[in-house]
Amino acid sequence: MPPHFVMKNIINKFFSEKADDSLLLPWGNEEFSKLMLVEHLNQNSLSGSRAKSFIQKEVRFLDGLFKQLSIGRKLLDIGCGPGLYCEQFNYFGYSCDGVDISPAAIEYAKEHVRDSQFFCCNIQDMECEKQYDAGLVLFGLLNEIKDSSSLISSAAQHIREDGYIILEVFHPDFFASLLSESTLVSGSEDATYFSALPHVRITKRFFVEESDCLVNRNLVVDDSGATKLYESHFTCYDLEKTTRLLESNGFTDVQCIQSPQTGEFSYESYYHYIIAKKQSLD
Ligand SMILES: C[S@@+](CC[C@H](N)C(=O)[O-])C[C@H]1O[C@@H](n2cnc3c(N)ncnc32)[C@H](O)[C@@H]1O
Repeated sequence: MPPHFVMKNIINKFFSEKADDSLLLPWGNEEFSKLMLVEHLNQNSLSGSRAKSFIQKEVRFLDGLFKQLSIGRKLLDIGCGPGLYCEQFNYFGYSCDGVDISPAAIEYAKEHVRDSQFFCCNIQDMECEKQYDAGLVLFGLLNEIKDSSSLISSAAQHIREDGYIILEVFHPDFFASLLSESTLVSGSEDATYFSALPHVRITKRFFVEESDCLVNRNLVVDDSGATKLYESHFTCYDLEKTTRLLESNGFTDVQCIQSPQTGEFSYESYYHYIIAKKQSLD
């Protein structure tokens, strides 16, 4: 196809208001995961992970909550990235293993986090005999994952009876805040997870009512002239919808707990926890 038609197609696609799964971030791709690892470890970026100081405060809060609920000490962090939460939980006396689809993040976690076992795979493919006291799905992974029911049912297989699942989900109000900036233009950026070369980026956000999903689409042009589109999809989960999702996958006693760090509006802290217990068979 002549180059100007390729460009025309990309621009048309950028402006369309239809979500496109083929443009989703390729978390499991080797090259992408190396670029994303830099982002995870960047203390000033929220694209991969939060800053370590925030994670420390969050884990201190969760430790208090887990003690209150008598949740045991064997944890599985689902979508653990480079193991930043596992490291903190271990510090607080837990034994926290992790699973993530990103090869570079798991390689980093294996090198840096002692006393944890890490699995590099999609949670749906995780093979492990251990039964955990709780499965953690933190930092909005439930919002971002395509097949949330399969995530919850796969997690359930690794959680013991009467064990817990802890979901940290975007507060529904957060979506309105994100949408208030529907188009963003970033000037020249150095390497980010979108490209190892300097690039410019235009971001467009829109909401798809039928799927209750916010689409965050990026058009990236780098110094080699390569032009690419990437999307993230964030599905909105209120308590009612999350309860249905959990109950249909064998969980019960669903409760919502506000994060103490959700005081003033902040991009870092606009989340809450939804906790449920795995039903025993008898
Ligand atoms: C926003 S990052 C958060 C990483 C980590 N929880 C943290 O806060 O530092 C989401 C993570 O989920 C992982 N992920 C996405 N889909 C996954 C899947 N199906 N199974 C396992 N990990 C997945 C990604 O590779 C990525 O590391």
